[in-house]
Amino acid sequence: MKEWTLEERYRVLQGPEDIADLHARIKQSEYRQRYHIQPVTGLSSDPNGFSFDKGKWQLFYQWCPWGAVHGLKYWYHVVSEDLVHWKNLGVGLRPDRDYDNKGAHSGSAIVEGDDLYVFYTGNHRDENWIRTPYTCAAKMDAAGNLEKLPQPLFGPREDYSEHQRDPKVLYHPERQRYYIFLGAQTMDKKGTALIYESEELLSGWHFAGQLKVQGYEDFGGMWECPSITRISGKDLLIFSPQYTKLPGRGEGTNHNVYFIGQMDYDTLVFVPEGEYHYLDYGFDFYAAQTAANVGDADKAVLMAWMGLPDNHYPTEPQEWEGSLTLPRELRILDGKLVQRPVEGLEKLRREERQYEDTGTECLQGDLPDSAELELVFGEAGMAGAGMGEDGSKTADVNLFTRADGSGGLRIHYDAGKRCCVFDKRGLELRFNEKVGEVLEMPLEAGLQKMRVFVDRSSVEFFVNDGEKTFSAHVYPTAQEHHYQIEGVEKMRIWELGSAVVDDFVV
Ligand code: FRU
Repeated sequence: MKEWTLEERYRVLQGPEDIADLHARIKQSEYRQRYHIQPVTGLSSDPNGFSFDKGKWQLFYQWCPWGAVHGLKYWYHVVSEDLVHWKNLGVGLRPDRDYDNKGAHSGSAIVEGDDLYVFYTGNHRDENWIRTPYTCAAKMDAAGNLEKLPQPLFGPREDYSEHQRDPKVLYHPERQRYYIFLGAQTMDKKGTALIYESEELLSGWHFAGQLKVQGYEDFGGMWECPSITRISGKDLLIFSPQYTKLPGRGEGTNHNVYFIGQMDYDTLVFVPEGEYHYLDYGFDFYAAQTAANVGDADKAVLMAWMGLPDNHYPTEPQEWEGSLTLPRELRILDGKLVQRPVEGLEKLRREERQYEDTGTECLQGDLPDSAELELVFGEAGMAGAGMGEDGSKTADVNLFTRADGSGGLRIHYDAGKRCCVFDKRGLELRFNEKVGEVLEMPLEAGLQKMRVFVDRSSVEFFVNDGEKTFSAHVYPTAQEHHYQIEGVEKMRIWELGSAVVDDFVV
């Protein structure tokens, strides 16, 4: 694998000609996605500045142009009118100021009247590579370009470590104040978030204090990409804790969790209604962010990076890596978070194959390289399921198998344990083995339904109408385009059309 020098990773992009050949090369890749956002070249990671403004969904991603490597980060701009079809718009923010000389790092957006503003982290490093993170802002002009403010809004606090970044900006209508939640690390290396407050959006910011989440004073070493969203009268607090192992997550040390609760802006205490939850149970999910200005008090729209810091993917030799997840609609129903693929994805359905009342039959067939599967396992007790050793019902969903049903990503459901086990060891192209290739997804009321979205290098599962989700990269080889499914009552498969144009806009 290529060893990157610091100079290569932090090279400044002079113009499109620097990467035109690179784009022409990676466009040939069999793993380029058909309906997921992916890097125009190089690497994409966190979603940034996600917002709805004047009929359009604005979105950016963390982008390193040069290859499958984390280096100098830009914001790359994409836009959509329906959250399904996305268009490349080119560079959104470039690290071209002294205060962001080594990267325009993650951040969020806010819509104020007719104007859209983004808040981001200017990652400054001096000649000794000492980092100073600045909280910066930019305003979108009528042509859709971001105009940076001449100066950052504020710099880092001395009483926390250098890890202070990823501003999530919001307006609190009752308090008539703006807030920023900033991911941070205390001096003794504990993850947290810092809260800033202001009466004006672009000035007057002052430190209000450290976020306190009762019982979570020592939970990971850094909370990246915090996000707080009001849904149906409750606060949904999301963040990505690092440097810690969590139960059921294998050897992974990067996670994405959420709490439902109430945020008290007087005391800066977040009172959770219960334990933390995983936002997704998959192998590749991180840095999720909700969109600003969705305009519905009962829902949010969320996207995440389908990937993890420190992970490496099989497209690395092809000089690119990464993808965002599908956008998800979030609701809080009966006190629980429900995540569903956004409405409108149905528009991508092409040819349909349908299997009704399959009984105990084992279904085998070709899996198109972009497809949606709808699986119904039967209410109460899985009528069609097989029998496990202890007499409980089981089901198997094996995707990306070879023609004879062997290998692939194998999902085994055991009704006795109410748990799905996802095992990717059977894939021919294995990757990130040390982080873990087997993960479990417990289900409160057993397995009833799955909606599965397959693209050329990813798969996302929405289980039981949004109770749980599982997102992962997969890189099937030419012979791994089959499925073998057992224990379903009904199954439908659609081939899906394309929704992202893999064009070269820089
Ligand atoms: C999360 C993250 C952020 C940072 C950005 C840099 O993946 O590490 O904390 O702003 O990525 O690309």
